[in-house]
Amino acid sequence: MTLADAASYLRPMALLPIITAPDPRLAQKSAPVATVTDELRKLMDDMLETMYAAPGIGLAAIQVGVPQRIIVMDLAREDEEKQPRFFINPEIVWASDEVAIYEEGCLSVPEIYDEVERPARVRVKFLGYDGKEQEIEADGLLATCLQHEMDHLNGVLFIDHFSKLKRDMILRKLVKARRRAAS
Ligand code: NI
Repeated sequence: MTLADAASYLRPMALLPIITAPDPRLAQKSAPVATVTDELRKLMDDMLETMYAAPGIGLAAIQVGVPQRIIVMDLAREDEEKQPRFFINPEIVWASDEVAIYEEGCLSVPEIYDEVERPARVRVKFLGYDGKEQEIEADGLLATCLQHEMDHLNGVLFIDHFSKLKRDMILRKLVKARRRAAS
């Protein structure tokens, strides 16, 4: 182990601030990652730590203000061992016609939970933590969570799946709650 290795090993993980709607950055499209570097892995470690602390089960890089196509996730239950997952440049290569409805929430849309309909199964191609290409077929919560997080990479929030009326109502509520918190 070199001194530089030791320094990076000892560097504590950092909690990153999570941005919330209606922050315009959440509507921007994230750019593909060119190379999976150690710096990028450090960002993913920090994102994972931030997600665990929130607590949440998925987080896209744009939610901490980084417009790159990166997702971290852990769907393990509290009584299970941690199962961190990393998805870089994820792409849906197949989606089922069959749909599933889940109640979704989002760390960038605090305290709002509602049902969203999405394809029940998807096949997703992506780069893993090691930068190697992988493909998985997902169903259940994993399929829903993947699609929710991949929406973030395209500037889409789960509330964008609702009618404009409902979405505007939620956004007004969020702005009001933030004003209350600031005063
Ligand atoms: Ni979200």
